[in-house]
Amino acid sequence: FSTKDTLLTSVQSPIENSGNKVTVVGVGAVGMACAFSILTKGVSNDIALVDCVADKLQGEMLDLQHGSGFIENARIVASTDYAVTAGSRICIVTAGVRQREGESRLDLVQRNADIMKQIIPQLVKYSPNAILLIVSNPVDILTHIAWKISGLPKTRVIGSGTNLDSSRFRFLMSQKLGIAPTSCHGWIIGEHGDSSVAVWSGANVAGVRLQALNPSLGSKNDSEGWGELHKKVVDGAYEVIKLKGYTSWAIGLSVSALCKAILKNTRTVHAVSVLVEGFHDVKEEVFLSLPAVLGENGLTDVIIQPLEDSEKAKLQKSAQIMSEVLKGVKL
Ligand code: NAI
Ligand code: LAC
Repeated sequence: FSTKDTLLTSVQSPIENSGNKVTVVGVGAVGMACAFSILTKGVSNDIALVDCVADKLQGEMLDLQHGSGFIENARIVASTDYAVTAGSRICIVTAGVRQREGESRLDLVQRNADIMKQIIPQLVKYSPNAILLIVSNPVDILTHIAWKISGLPKTRVIGSGTNLDSSRFRFLMSQKLGIAPTSCHGWIIGEHGDSSVAVWSGANVAGVRLQALNPSLGSKNDSEGWGELHKKVVDGAYEVIKLKGYTSWAIGLSVSALCKAILKNTRTVHAVSVLVEGFHDVKEEVFLSLPAVLGENGLTDVIIQPLEDSEKAKLQKSAQIMSEVLKGVKL
């Protein structure tokens, strides 16, 4: 008899599958921020890690496992073999190269598109019912590419999109107004990048539209300089990359919020990258961020905000930029 057999009298076998398994591909700064946030916020306690660098992968797994007593006895597995991802509810893709100082997200497109071709088929093979949550940049283009490669319905291939940009915007609103970011309702839509669109017409606190109080809100002749908030959102990543070399914590928290909506079927609304063809008279087949309802089966609804002509025109311009970039990608 072993000590264990003497200690434990089995009544039934434990369940292996938690029902909330999440895979993270890419255990770099972003992937580990996602994993750590998901674990510490109790969004899931069943994580699979994949990367192509075996030692780093093993090290990150061990380091997380050593803390599993603090995170609901989380099961953390890792392998360069995608079989470890089997049965995932969500597969998060953060693998790929990141911007160096002065590079735009779009500069990364071909290198990271090539990586998608390796990763996506493997994820679908082992978790055909999963939702793919793409984070790697340029996220709108790579989400589109992941959707094409995966063969999954558009409702189950989502990009983290401007959920992060909207979080940055709400933080800046909260700083200007002196109230919590969760009470500052501001939406950034379109490209997760240089051509994102601030929906000034909808910015509100407690249903009070700021534009009703300040009709020039966000425009060039706005004496209060609200437009600076969107500029800081667009410049935000470049500033952090210049200072610390990359961004990670905000995107990790943002991704874990998206995973919570999916795993717990909360049907909360997030600005995420979805197929926007046909919305706001967008003609191109492209992915951009719009406010979307997320639940257990992924994307269920899109909220079509009543955009001002200028906001709609900017969104359509984003769509044209995405379409042009997509045409240049060799798959
Ligand atoms: P990183 O260089 O720290 O990590 C990337 C990881 O991907 C590395 O561990 C590398 O080994 C792995 N990898 C590369 N090729 C792979 C492959 N074929 N299969 C599996 N793993 C592979 O980079 P970081 O800072 O984590 O950024 C990752 C990506 O996330 C970048 O594209 C970055 O631009 C993007 N990002 C997106 C954000 C968003 O809001 N959508 C925010 C921040 C970063
Ligand atoms: C961001 C970039 C890296 O942090 O996508 O927004």
